[in-house]
Amino acid sequence: MNVKRSDRPIGVLDSGVGGLTVVQSLKELLPEEDLLYFGDSANCPYGNRTKENILELMNNILDFMEERQVKAIAVACNTLSTLYDEYAPARHTPIFSIVQAAANDVARRNLKEVGLVCTEFTANSGLYEKLIDEQCPGLPVYTASNHNLASTLDQGRFAEVPDNVRANMQRLFAKGHPDYVILGCTHYPIVKDEFEKAAPGVTFLNPAHAQAEDIKNWLAENGLLRQDHRGSLEVVTSGEPHFYREMCLRLGIGEPDLLEQKSLP
Ligand code: DGL
Repeated sequence: MNVKRSDRPIGVLDSGVGGLTVVQSLKELLPEEDLLYFGDSANCPYGNRTKENILELMNNILDFMEERQVKAIAVACNTLSTLYDEYAPARHTPIFSIVQAAANDVARRNLKEVGLVCTEFTANSGLYEKLIDEQCPGLPVYTASNHNLASTLDQGRFAEVPDNVRANMQRLFAKGHPDYVILGCTHYPIVKDEFEKAAPGVTFLNPAHAQAEDIKNWLAENGLLRQDHRGSLEVVTSGEPHFYREMCLRLGIGEPDLLEQKSLP
């Protein structure tokens, strides 16, 4: 099948439902684009796995995306973005890291210090600190990882969220009191209101918008923007499809046009 490059979908991937927060931003910014989402809920959370295991899972998803001939791939997962250099150079499709987008966004804001909440894997990688330091040398980054918030949200256990988030913010405040905190896991913006309740006065940054902007700019620069089309959303998951439908509705994305269960490879 030979589809004109600009008419191909944008691929969006995550370990679970969290990347739908990036779909939300892409839909706002690029309503004419078709989106193909893969959420690997059968294997979520990724953040507590080994690097080798995560890369194996990621390469299966990238193979799927390239078979479907997407024109660009949004890694709507911070944990996976920390391993960008391990998989992106070998692929022929342009791949966009949410951690890079978030670090650039922080640099543009001219902050005095910043907080970060994220998975253990993302925290241990030190990538946020490195990318922020490259652009803002010496800017303090206070990090507090969260062992199970991504899986709690992926399994829809919302009753556990307030205590979990409060404890996460207490761990962060034990290190410093930044006015701005990056939601460094794409699952966390689903419960941004709980973070705001746990830390009044703090501004929580959702990097999804910055990543969607990066993709829009790249498509525009390369003449690949889709026009005069109602963008569709196809959601594929290794987990329970009904949960993805509910999350799409919760985030105001609306019903996916196609929703199917599939295990990779
Ligand atoms: N949404 C993923 C992230 O941004 C969650 C990772 C996980 O599965 O632990 O890091």
